[in-house]
Amino acid sequence: MATTTKSRSSTRSAKRSSPKQSSRSTGGSTRSSASNPSSKSAFSWGDNTGSLIGAAIAGVAIGFAANMGRKLVIQGMSGMAGDWDEVLATEHEMTLAVFDKMLATDSTQTWKRSMLLMKLEHALDKHAHEEEMIVYPALREANMQADSEHLNEEHLEIKTFIYELHQMGTDAPNWLEKVRQFRDLVQRHVHEEEESVFPSFKENLTDEQNAKITNLVNRDGFWQA
Ligand SMILES: [Fe+2]
Ligand SMILES: [Fe+2]
Repeated sequence: MATTTKSRSSTRSAKRSSPKQSSRSTGGSTRSSASNPSSKSAFSWGDNTGSLIGAAIAGVAIGFAANMGRKLVIQGMSGMAGDWDEVLATEHEMTLAVFDKMLATDSTQTWKRSMLLMKLEHALDKHAHEEEMIVYPALREANMQADSEHLNEEHLEIKTFIYELHQMGTDAPNWLEKVRQFRDLVQRHVHEEEESVFPSFKENLTDEQNAKITNLVNRDGFWQA
């Protein structure tokens, strides 16, 4: 019995004198190692951390400014055209010009075809977003539901053409024929917008509504650019 009591007492004593407990009770050793450069943790901040963070922030700011500048230039090319319908008509023209460059290539110019397809895809994607997010909903609001749905369905056909061109490869023997069919569809679509649907819609807009739609189209185009 006496042996057991002594054993428990010595265990408690050993725990009190262990290095771990000593460190916790004083905290002195922790402060000491922090002030010693040779014992820095792997997670310590270096002396030049401030300048590194400053450079990173400056890099992000420059990248952001460059991206904003690029967006302004791209949207400015069509946005300076005037009202929303003129902005969209300018984009139609620029898109058809890309088709013409594609049709002027031959099967050896695979890299050029890939670049032009990428450019076409970006132009159509940005343009479709402006119409689908602003103009077509405005058509529905103006009781032009059927026109809105019909044009929207043609946008789905346009996306299918882009998918098919990516699938077939730029050296495919029927690549030019596919691009020609694609161009015909886009030309019919933009002709209907410019000559029929958009003028019918615009003639019933007030100046304020017209300005609002122009502003929304330009803003959407800016963020999509
Ligand atoms: Fe459209
Ligand atoms: Fe359009």
